Amino acid sequence: MKRIPIALPSTGEEEWQATRGPILEGWLTQGPRVAAFERAFAERHRVPHALATTSCTTGLHLALAALGVGPGDEVIVPSFTWIATANVVLYCGATPVLCDVDERTFNLDAAKVVAKLTPRTKAIIAVHLFGLCADLDAIAAAAPGIPLIEDAACAAGAGYHGRPAGSIGLAGVFSFHPRKSITTGEGGMVTTADAAFAERATMLRNHGASVSEEQRHVGPKPYLLPAFNLLGFNYRMTDVQGAIGLVQLGKLDGFIDERDVWARYYQRELAGIPWLRLPVVPDGYRHGWQAFVTMVDARTAPRPRNDLMQQLHDLGVDTRPGTHAIHLLGYYAQRFGLAPDDFPASRACDQQSIALPLHNRMSADDYARVVAAVRSL
Ligand SMILES: Cc1ncc(COP(=O)(O)O)c(C=O)c1O
Repeated sequence: MKRIPIALPSTGEEEWQATRGPILEGWLTQGPRVAAFERAFAERHRVPHALATTSCTTGLHLALAALGVGPGDEVIVPSFTWIATANVVLYCGATPVLCDVDERTFNLDAAKVVAKLTPRTKAIIAVHLFGLCADLDAIAAAAPGIPLIEDAACAAGAGYHGRPAGSIGLAGVFSFHPRKSITTGEGGMVTTADAAFAERATMLRNHGASVSEEQRHVGPKPYLLPAFNLLGFNYRMTDVQGAIGLVQLGKLDGFIDERDVWARYYQRELAGIPWLRLPVVPDGYRHGWQAFVTMVDARTAPRPRNDLMQQLHDLGVDTRPGTHAIHLLGYYAQRFGLAPDDFPASRACDQQSIALPLHNRMSADDYARVVAAVRSL
């Protein structure tokens, strides 16, 4: 029986050919291909600045560092998200303040943000989970003047009332991990419209150096070394990845359009199952469909969520929980003394969500098989 994987990157001949340039020419670290990828990504997401990084995690860390987040500061993060969203706050020596989500959208609940604000709140990281933008206008209205960082790990190409993800907050941070719509293996991108923030992040990405590697290598004054006035990191993307990213970015809208067609197919074909709640797309949003995440109604489902997932597995259909609730993870539960009931919506999402396969290497037959398997439950 052919298995239908939960996700599979769509890379092939074009990406393979694109890697030849940097490898044959010998410029492998961040260079002209990364610069071209950054320019194209900035253009697609309608921002003046885009900085490639080694991952979304390092991009988020970079964004917080560029914002000056440090010990004594608090950063509000959703309690239902990938662990990296909270970890980066700890990397800065600051405190992640968890805030529950809206079970319907899986995203930060603006009404609950207000209670989390204190004089120490330095930033809010709003996650666009599974490719659906968080309600950024509502969050900004709930926390006026607090910088918003968009964790757009899953949201390349997604839109919010006509604006691209990553173009709304102070910064957006994207992931190119293979489970995302477009991939560079590992990789990330920080977007911003703020020139001073971009300049600071650019230096921090490269050890805090005042001058980039490219400038240093092609510059006319061989004796010049950069000034290092900041404690920075090495979060530079390689040019091999930049070359792959540029090809993948060219396919992004096609990938999303195709996913949208099949997401609608799932919505239609699975609509009659009373115990399965399908993902919502509020008016004015363009979903990026990094994942198609459903919720099982525990009161009416024929069996517990895990049994249903096992049954789908036995039918050759791979599924996963949407993601995890941070307060249920050992490190956070122990360090911050958190109890399972502290964030009820996040707990429900953690325990009742099922992501169904949705990617650009599935055939019509595959989708029909998933629908038949879910209906058979
Ligand atoms: C919401 C969210 N934030 C951050 C990350 C981290 O991305 P990366 O693996 O590129 O570091 C992920 C990865 O799955 C994610 O889903």
